[in-house]
Amino acid sequence: MKLNLDLACDSSPEWLAAVMDDFDAFLLDHADCERKASAMAMSFVAKYPDRSAIIPELIETAIEELEHFQQVYQLMEKRGLSLTHSIGEDPYVKALIKRCHSGREERFLDRLLIASVVETRGAERFRLVSEALEDPEMHRFYKILWASEAKHGHIFVKMALNYFEHDRVYDRLAWWVEQEAEVLNGLAIRSALH
Ligand SMILES: [Fe+2]
Ligand SMILES: [Fe+2]
Repeated sequence: MKLNLDLACDSSPEWLAAVMDDFDAFLLDHADCERKASAMAMSFVAKYPDRSAIIPELIETAIEELEHFQQVYQLMEKRGLSLTHSIGEDPYVKALIKRCHSGREERFLDRLLIASVVETRGAERFRLVSEALEDPEMHRFYKILWASEAKHGHIFVKMALNYFEHDRVYDRLAWWVEQEAEVLNGLAIRSALH
């Protein structure tokens, strides 16, 4: 059983350059993504309360993401940055969700697999950010986050395997990996996680 997944494309050097060029904007968006990731894990609990096999892991993931939010918020405070109302929907996540199947079961599988691909992309991008940051403390911070998000990428695939056949999960996952690359490459480059 292979729990980790390979993305279909690497993030572009242009994306990394945009982030390094306006790191404050990246931090604001990053904080927002962590807060949304926590809410997303808890929304699975709210939508699928009968899926008791995965609820403990969902709660744990929500707590971890909230801790990430807390840590990024602390970094923002140090830099004198404030949270804003202005950050809207994430066009990347929105485009992925639009490609979901519509039946309850299909949607459940798709949402888990989207979470897995999004977490894996986050891990890849935190690795790139970590490698580009010269400040040792910041380098270390993003390195730790990279490991944590890579683990989340596995967790959601494992959750799906509780409820769906192995081949169905991996066939659909391969499809999502392709979709994700298409969506990512269609996005405008900005100093944000996506
Ligand atoms: Fe996170
Ligand atoms: Fe995560």
